Amino acid sequence: MSDWISVCAADELPQGSQHVFALDDISVIIINLNGDYYAIEDCCTHDGGTLSDGEIDGEEIICPRHFASFSIKTGEVITPPAYEAIHTFPLRMHEKMIQIRDDRFDS
Ligand code: FES
Repeated sequence: MSDWISVCAADELPQGSQHVFALDDISVIIINLNGDYYAIEDCCTHDGGTLSDGEIDGEEIICPRHFASFSIKTGEVITPPAYEAIHTFPLRMHEKMIQIRDDRFDS
């Protein structure tokens, strides 16, 4: 199983804000949604749009290219033209740090 990776201190990420984090060859967005933190891949499954450039609307993030929307909590598609979910990463708090685990290659 992959190791936990420290991303940033929780107090650097106030409610409603996001933090983009480079994870090897991809980017991950950490989002503070009403005090809960979520980690999603920063890449729209429709055609590679940068989701961190899009808007957050409630619990959804909207791709700026063709306006597909995804659940921040689950990664599921809410609005087409995307039809595949975005990857969500396990996240935990450890000594006031936000940590994620890259589980893309876990078996
Ligand atoms: S690239 Fe995101 S909706 Fe098309």
